Amino acid sequence: MHVIGGTASTSLAERISRELGNAPFAIPFTKRFPDGEMYVRVGGRFEGEDVVVVQSTRADQDLIELLLLEDAVREAGARRVFVVVPYLGYARQDRRFFPGEPVSARTFCRHIELDADAVVTVDLHSRQTLAHFSKPAFEASGIPAIARLLRERPIDLLVSPDQGGIDRVRRMAQILDKPWFALQKKRLDSEHVELSLPAALPGPIDGKQVVIVDDVISTGGTIVEAAKLLTKRNVASISAACTHGLFLKDGFERIKAVVDEVFSTDTLGNPAEKASVAPDIAQILLRETAS
Ligand code: R5P
Repeated sequence: MHVIGGTASTSLAERISRELGNAPFAIPFTKRFPDGEMYVRVGGRFEGEDVVVVQSTRADQDLIELLLLEDAVREAGARRVFVVVPYLGYARQDRRFFPGEPVSARTFCRHIELDADAVVTVDLHSRQTLAHFSKPAFEASGIPAIARLLRERPIDLLVSPDQGGIDRVRRMAQILDKPWFALQKKRLDSEHVELSLPAALPGPIDGKQVVIVDDVISTGGTIVEAAKLLTKRNVASISAACTHGLFLKDGFERIKAVVDEVFSTDTLGNPAEKASVAPDIAQILLRETAS
C-alpha cells in the first residue's frame, strides 16, 4: 500500500503511513500555472497497488488538488484508490436550509468519490452525510485520539457545549469513566451563541477540572461562551478539546484567554494539535484493504 499526502494533510498522511507498517509515503509535486490553475504530479508507478490519498478539504483549492491526485494515481496504475478526507469541508451545509441553496455536503461527496474505491473521513458534522457516498464510506472518530491524550491528565468532568454533542461526550465519558453533562445552546448568528446550564447536573461543578468536548472549533465563540459560563460556577480548571480545530480569525487566542489548555486532533494543522487520528484511520484502511 502507498500513501500520498496532499498539501493540506502532509503530516497526518505520514503518520498514517507509519501506522500502516511504514507503507511507502510520498508528497506529490505541486505548482500553479500562470493562470492560477493547479498542477500536480505523483512520482513512480503504482501498478496493481492500493494507494491511499490523504487530503482534508478545508479550502476550495484542497478539493481541486484532491480530485487531481485521485486521477493521477489512477493514471499511474493504482489498482484501488482509498481516499482519506480527515476534515470534509462544506459538511455543515448538509441540507437545504432555504430555497435555492445547494446541499453542499452531498455534492462534495459525489465529486470526491468519482475516482475512489472507498472514502474514509473523520467526525462528520452529521452522520447522514455518509449516505451521500455511493461507494463504501467510513467515518473514523476523533474521540479515541482525544481520550488517549486526556487519560494522562487530571479530569473530573466532561461537558458538551450543546445537546447535539451528547453522543460524543457520552462516548468520551465512557472511555474515561467520568461524569458528563451537556449545555443548552442557542445560536444567535454564525459567530455568536447563548449558552445555559441544563436543569440537572451530575453533581456539584465548583472546584472541578472540566474539559469541554466539541467536534469542531470554528470561530471559537461556542467554547469562549462555555468557558465563561463554567468560570462563573467556580470550576478549578477548563480545557477545550475538539476533533477539527479550524480556529478562524483570532479564535485560538480568544479561547486561550479563557481556558487553561486547548487540544485538537491532527485533521487540520493548528497550534492545538496534540492528538493524532492516524491510528484510527489506519485501522479502517487495514480492515478494508484486507478484503
Ligand atoms: C456545532 O454544531 C458544532 O458542534 C460546534 O459547536 C460549532 O461548529 C463551533 O463553532 P464556533 O467555534 O464558531 O462557535
